[in-house]
Amino acid sequence: MIRDKILINFFETYFDEKFFCSQFTEEDNQKLAEDVIKLLDAKKGSHILDWCGGWGRISIHFARMGYKVTILDIMQDRLLRAKEIFKNENLPLTTICTDCRDTPADLNVDYATCLFCSVGFFEDNEQIKAFKSLFNTLKNDGKFIFDCLNLFFLADKKFEETKMKRRDGKINVQRNNFDFSTNILHSYFRIVDEKYSIEQESEFYQKLYTPKDLCYLLKAAGFKIENIYGSYDAEPISFRSPQIVVVARK
Ligand SMILES: C[S@@+](CC[C@H](N)C(=O)[O-])C[C@H]1O[C@@H](n2cnc3c(N)ncnc32)[C@H](O)[C@@H]1O
Repeated sequence: MIRDKILINFFETYFDEKFFCSQFTEEDNQKLAEDVIKLLDAKKGSHILDWCGGWGRISIHFARMGYKVTILDIMQDRLLRAKEIFKNENLPLTTICTDCRDTPADLNVDYATCLFCSVGFFEDNEQIKAFKSLFNTLKNDGKFIFDCLNLFFLADKKFEETKMKRRDGKINVQRNNFDFSTNILHSYFRIVDEKYSIEQESEFYQKLYTPKDLCYLLKAAGFKIENIYGSYDAEPISFRSPQIVVVARK
């Protein structure tokens, strides 16, 4: 794994929620869930595996739309939180606490999702292993959709520092270092107040990909590529797309 301890600390302290997810409204999350279902053309009532699904921020909406949901995540804490959220709405949920490279082979799901930059934690051979274990648990013809950051977009911006006003009035600051030999982005995050006093900070390592890199990794795991988009709105991929969204089929 790329820099194990830093990654685990980032998720254990819920820094991803504090920095990124808290900036999305419930309407944003619902829209994303609906876009995912549309791109997968998922049949009502079918079984979706939310791979690296956290506390079900998006898959709660799949369940509300009548899909059967299983969430896999390495963090037990997040899965317990998901169970609570689903239980409060009387929605069924299965959780699996394991590393995504060890996805159980017998889930036999119709679809899999991996949302919000949840790839890029491993070296390529380990990422292929993770995709292979997911491939094995999909039904024949099953589909997998995921997103990640677009290396071309960030490179075009020279990985420069970004500042973004938060919904709570504070500011998210992100500073980056890019390793050209590995394509790994080392990011330093700070939440600062109006006077630029630091409220919280963290760091993260993530491998960045081009569409071609993703095709290589997925094909090595057995997948066929169906479509590559620049967003969940199905915009064409371009240098200006912050995200890459891939739909692959078993
Ligand atoms: C960026 S978060 C996204 C969570 C969720 N998909 C969402 O959109 O809210 C990445 C998730 O991947 C999980 N994760 C990180 N490394 C993992 C691994 N090796 N195996 C399984 N899950 C992992 C983290 O615990 C975290 O919940």
